[in-house]
Amino acid sequence: MFPTPDPIPLPAPVWLLKLLSLLTLGLHFGAVMILVGSLILTIYLNVKGRARQQVEYVQASYVLAKRLPVIMTYVINLGVPPLLFLQVLYGQQIYSSSVLIGSLWISVIIQLMLAYWLLYRTIHGIENRKPIWHIAGLSLLIVMGIGQIYSFNMTLMLRPEVWNEMYHNSPIGMQSPKGDPTITPRWLFVMAGGPLFGGLWAVLLSHMAYLGDAVKAILRRAGGLIAGVGGVLMLAMGYRVMSLQPAEVWAGIQGSQLHLYGLYAAGATIAVATLLGVAQGMGKARSLAVSNLGIVAALLATITSAIVRDGVRDFTLLQKGFDVNAVTVYPNWSVVIVFLLLFVIMLGVIYWLLNVMRQATPPKEEISI
Ligand code: HEM
Repeated sequence: MFPTPDPIPLPAPVWLLKLLSLLTLGLHFGAVMILVGSLILTIYLNVKGRARQQVEYVQASYVLAKRLPVIMTYVINLGVPPLLFLQVLYGQQIYSSSVLIGSLWISVIIQLMLAYWLLYRTIHGIENRKPIWHIAGLSLLIVMGIGQIYSFNMTLMLRPEVWNEMYHNSPIGMQSPKGDPTITPRWLFVMAGGPLFGGLWAVLLSHMAYLGDAVKAILRRAGGLIAGVGGVLMLAMGYRVMSLQPAEVWAGIQGSQLHLYGLYAAGATIAVATLLGVAQGMGKARSLAVSNLGIVAALLATITSAIVRDGVRDFTLLQKGFDVNAVTVYPNWSVVIVFLLLFVIMLGVIYWLLNVMRQATPPKEEISI
């Protein structure tokens, strides 16, 4: 069924590659969700502020919009490491599925550039007192469309039984996969995380000292509200994804402590993050510590969901004759150690950059209608 494996053995143990992949993928999901949620909130607050002629709403939308390009850099840069690990661990599957939807897959690069450019146009529009719902709305649609292409590919890589037919159907990959009921709920699970994580992000931003009290209150209330909606949707979509899994995959999840506890932890952390968002939105818990806790809970939710998702992939592929744990490993420890050292140095540099950012002169967030 699968193409013959790569003759070059894995350069590091499977568990280490998976650990790094799941950690970075959890962060990638977090960044994607903040991007989606921030875009939704930017549109909502800007439209509301302009319609009611309430400048504070427009200012709140500007606070969120100004950070969109930076968030996009995190989406992309935190997507690269899991993509590399994915190719190393599941090359036979992911290369095949990528070729089968090749035209769509390649189009992601152009779509990304367009969505990115539209983020800058959104900021420019707010600064020039123009309506931005159509620009930011288009960017949001493109971003969500990219997410759907990822869901197409990540589910198609698990279905070698349809590859032949798809290849004959369109050798240039001008097609999307059909017949897998998990595609849409998987995609919607991550998209629903947008309002949850984006809402918690808005609540966190409401603590910035230099914002006016009215802007802070708008960010906190609107953020808390959509976090509640997103959290409930996310739980519903997560339930749907899992309920669609075949009995063999369920048996695998239940037989593995990591995946079973990961599943419980994902549900619990989504619920905790949702409750923290709603409580802050209602003005019940307004300290910075609670906002930070909300972000940590949401981050744990994305990492634990990534673990469960990985289990679904491994137990599905096992049914189809591929066992990732049986792939030949020939560890190249010197390279692994250099990699880990660089990884730690990179974390230190990010910490240093964040500190520089915190100490910098606050940006001018004042804006008029
Ligand atoms: C706006 C841009 C993006 C969005 C909305 C997005 C969204 C998503 C979504 C929804 C998934 C989960 C798909 C599923 O399993 O059903 C996903 C997975 C993934 N994304 Fe992104 N993504 C974006 C950009 C990127 C970029 C630029 C990269 C890499 C350079 C990337 C790398 C990955 C990888 C590697 C996975 C799967 C990893 C694995 O299964 O091990 N993403 N993304």
